[in-house]
Amino acid sequence: MTLPASSRFSFAPDLGICRVLNGMWQVSGAHGPIDAERAIVAMFAYHDAGFTSWDLADHYGPAEDLIGRFRRRFAEQRGAEHLGEIQAFTKWVPPPGPMSRQNVEQAIAVSLRRMGVDRLDLLQFHWWDYQDRRYLDALKHLADLRQEGRIRHLALTNFDTERLATICEHGIPIVSNQVQYSLIDRRPDARMAAFCQEHDITLLTYGTLLGGLLSEKYLGHPEPGRGELTTASLQKYKNMIDAWGGWALFQELLAALKPIADKHGVGIATIGARYVLDRPAVAGVIIGARLGIAEHIADNARVFDVALDADDLAMIEPVLAPSRDLMRLIGDCGGEYRR
Ligand SMILES: NC(=O)c1ccc[n+]([C@@H]2O[C@H](COP(=O)([O-])OP(=O)(O)OC[C@H]3O[C@@H](n4cnc5c(N)ncnc54)[C@H](OP(=O)(O)O)[C@@H]3O)[C@@H](O)[C@H]2O)c1
Repeated sequence: MTLPASSRFSFAPDLGICRVLNGMWQVSGAHGPIDAERAIVAMFAYHDAGFTSWDLADHYGPAEDLIGRFRRRFAEQRGAEHLGEIQAFTKWVPPPGPMSRQNVEQAIAVSLRRMGVDRLDLLQFHWWDYQDRRYLDALKHLADLRQEGRIRHLALTNFDTERLATICEHGIPIVSNQVQYSLIDRRPDARMAAFCQEHDITLLTYGTLLGGLLSEKYLGHPEPGRGELTTASLQKYKNMIDAWGGWALFQELLAALKPIADKHGVGIATIGARYVLDRPAVAGVIIGARLGIAEHIADNARVFDVALDADDLAMIEPVLAPSRDLMRLIGDCGGEYRR
């Protein structure tokens, strides 16, 4: 299987990505135990299908090490000259503390070593507390490391529009912000997407499939109790559904999506991913992959075959209308992570 040309996106002049990125939170241990060897075999399968872009973080268990192992195996089997076909986007999520040049440099050095690269393709920076303005210190040092060649591009995750604007005002070059964005969480529509478009910044999205809840598996399903939600991801997004409007409204959404999915000959998840891919400023949708446990390669490839039309969107909107306003409830993008 090869993906169509429409699967690719020029994320930066020197960096192309697949618009469906493989999310590696699912290897952290909170989504079932991962066997490293099976995971590496699965990574080749994703890559060879055209899913060449990976989203990970310093704190996703062995994710950075798995990228390192995958790259080593890839170089042995296919030649080091082909390593540029892999894009691996990591994050730095520091605990609050002083953001000296030395601290920042040390953190980046750990990721470089674990991933087995001389330069990080993308470093996405997270910050817990906006009252603590040292995020600007950290970003200035990261921008310097970018100038020095240790980071190719600098990005953010879970920053709101106000702080993204502050960061831009400080002249720090940001290429993307990674945020939650799905049919039920459309907060980026409110302010973030327009700001990004004005400033040539793109969005990478997570939570788009609600950890798997946005699928036939849960259509007509009684409200799952905590014991049934066996991954951290399912628990997280069940909470989002509760905040958004509850299980009964979510069932209405799944029921509205089903005929649209049938019309296009795909699954409900594919409709959810396509919807977000079509939103302004969105460069890519990250879909979590439980490497070596479960895979949805063929289904997720269908995202690039689907074009949602006005009739489809007209069927979705009325179901979303009675939901709660998450901007008011949680705040702008990333509000759920602020202390
Ligand atoms: N920046 C942040 O704060 C943040 C937060 C959360 C996540 N993320 C990133 O986003 C990634 C995505 O993770 P997520 O937690 O948001 O989960 P998600 O992508 O919404 O859901 C992933 C799950 O959806 C199911 N799935 C995938 N394709 C499917 C298909 N075609 N049909 C039906 N089900 C399908 C799979 O479940 P099964 O495995 O059970 O089959 C998979 O584990 C993470 O790995 C991480 O890289 C970032």
